[in-house]
Amino acid sequence: MTENPERSISDSLEVDQKLLPYMPFLLQDLWALGSSVDDILSAIRSLELPADQTRILDLGCGKGAVSVRIASQFGYNVVGIDAMEPFLVVAREKAADYKVSHRCQFINQDIVDYVLQEHEFDVVILAAVGALFGSITDTIAKLRTQVKSGGYILIDDGYLKNMDRLDRKGYEYCRNYDETIKELTAHGDRIIKEINTTEFSIRINAEYQKTIEKRGQELIKGHHELERDINDYIRLQAEECHIIDTLIEGMLWIVQKNR
Ligand SMILES: C[S@@+](CC[C@H](N)C(=O)[O-])C[C@H]1O[C@@H](n2cnc3c(N)ncnc32)[C@H](O)[C@@H]1O
Repeated sequence: MTENPERSISDSLEVDQKLLPYMPFLLQDLWALGSSVDDILSAIRSLELPADQTRILDLGCGKGAVSVRIASQFGYNVVGIDAMEPFLVVAREKAADYKVSHRCQFINQDIVDYVLQEHEFDVVILAAVGALFGSITDTIAKLRTQVKSGGYILIDDGYLKNMDRLDRKGYEYCRNYDETIKELTAHGDRIIKEINTTEFSIRINAEYQKTIEKRGQELIKGHHELERDINDYIRLQAEECHIIDTLIEGMLWIVQKNR
């Protein structure tokens, strides 16, 4: 188990743990919570995997924006893991809306626990979840235990554009391009696809910022005691947007596990 799953959830959402219970309210207008859904769909499409028998694992699936659309567009079977039950409730509702409930299973579990057991999925996705497994090398080591030999690992993350290290919480393991590639392939696997998601990330972050500002002000009206925390969160998100816009190249990689 993670020592503190709440900490890893709040880190992935870049929010103080005190605000975690309010995140479903603050993020109610968003379905995707940070990942580049269209780019992920196009990357998955390019693998040309067969409908019906393909099995996908979406770690940190949030409200199922990636899982449900994969099931709906490609006819794949998806298991989504997340530890925020209110997000999973939305994911299940969306699966029903898209008429793919029979293809989607959403499980409330700590991701770190889930990957303790090996699995044989065709593809594992880690999209906008952060560094809960540590370095990129350690992350790949864990993810490759979840797919069969020759299976695929999809990571939606990024690299540092003009520097080797960034001394900021959440970016401890972020590396420049060359180092990132070295780590992604450290276990003898092969990168088969790279998609630059910067434009998409900038757009989604701006949308994220707008929605938390609006919902944050609504929340403050009924919860004056949260005013400082919410304003801190909004300020931190604005800083995050600036960092992503200026220092990070958003990138989606597909790594094929060696046979
Ligand atoms: C930024 S969101 C991204 C969600 C989704 N991939 C998307 O883009 O819509 C990160 C998600 O990871 C989940 N998460 C973070 N740490 C977790 C853990 N240890 N176990 C389960 N879920 C976790 C959070 O609850 C959150 O839903």
